[in-house]
Amino acid sequence: MAQLRQDGYEVVEQFYEPDALGAALRDFDAVIIRSATKIKEPQIDAAKDSRLKLIIRAGVGVDNIAVKYAEAAGITVRNTPRASSNAVAELAMALLFSCARNISIAGHTMREGKWEKKAYSKGFELAGKTLGVIGYGRIGQLVGAKAQALGMRVLSVVHRNKPEGVESESMRFVSMDELLAQSDVICLCAPAGEKPLVDAQSIEKMRDGVVIINVSRGANVDEGALLEALNAGKVRAAGLDVWLSEKDPNWALAQHPAVSCTPHIGAGTKEAQKRIGAELVDIVEHFGT
Ligand code: MLT
Repeated sequence: MAQLRQDGYEVVEQFYEPDALGAALRDFDAVIIRSATKIKEPQIDAAKDSRLKLIIRAGVGVDNIAVKYAEAAGITVRNTPRASSNAVAELAMALLFSCARNISIAGHTMREGKWEKKAYSKGFELAGKTLGVIGYGRIGQLVGAKAQALGMRVLSVVHRNKPEGVESESMRFVSMDELLAQSDVICLCAPAGEKPLVDAQSIEKMRDGVVIINVSRGANVDEGALLEALNAGKVRAAGLDVWLSEKDPNWALAQHPAVSCTPHIGAGTKEAQKRIGAELVDIVEHFGT
C-alpha cells in the first residue's frame, strides 16, 4: 500500500461488514481483498453503476468473488496468480515430509514431555514413491518438479489443456482412476469444483495406506469421509492447510494424530507477500492503459 500512496493513489484500509460493503465500494475506483472478504451478488448489486471498476484478489483463488456477475456489471476482476505458487508448493512438500516422518505428532508429544522414539520410527521415504497431483497448474507443476527432484514418480490428470513440456520419464498424465489406484501420495492443487475430489468413492479407489495432502480448497475434501478413512487406516496420514469451514475447522480431523495441519498459510511467506504486493501495484497502475 505504501508504494501506491507514494505513486499518488489515495488508499483507504478499512474493514466493512458484508451488509455495508457493497454500498461502501461505490466511492472507490478499485478494491483489493484477501480470502476472508466476499464480494458476491448482493455486494455487486449494491456497487454497480458507480465508480467501482476493478476488484483485485490479493492471492490465487477467486472463489470469494462472483467473477462472472461482476464482469457482467462492467467490473473487472483480477488476481495475483503467480506470486504465491512457490510458497504454496513448498508448504505442500512440508506437509508431505511431516506425514512421511510423523513430524507433527512426534513434535507434539515431545512438547508434552514424552519420548516416543519407537512409535514414530516407522516413517517412509519419498524417493521411489508415486505422487498423484490433482490440478497441474502453476502450483501443481511446482509440486511435481520438487517431488521429481526428490526421486518421486509423478502422475497427473489432464482436464482441458495439457501443459506443454512437463511430461518426462518421471512425470505422466493418466486417467483419474489410474492416478487414484497408483499413487502412494495424492496432493490436491485444483480449484474447488462442484463436488469433493476426495470422498468415500474416490478413497475406495486409492491404495491402502495412501497419504493425502490438500493445499487447494477445503471443499475439495469430504472431511467426514477422510476422518473415517484415517480411523479405519485406509488413509495413513493427511496434510491439510485448507478447511471447509475456516476459523472453526473440523477439529476432530485437525486433532487426529495422523493429521499434519496448518491454518491456511500456503501463501504465508515474506517472499510471496512481497511478490503479491508488487503484482497488485502493477495491476492498479496498468489498469485501463
Ligand atoms: C490463495 O488463494 O491465494 C491462497 O489460498 C492463499 C490465501 O487465500 O490465503
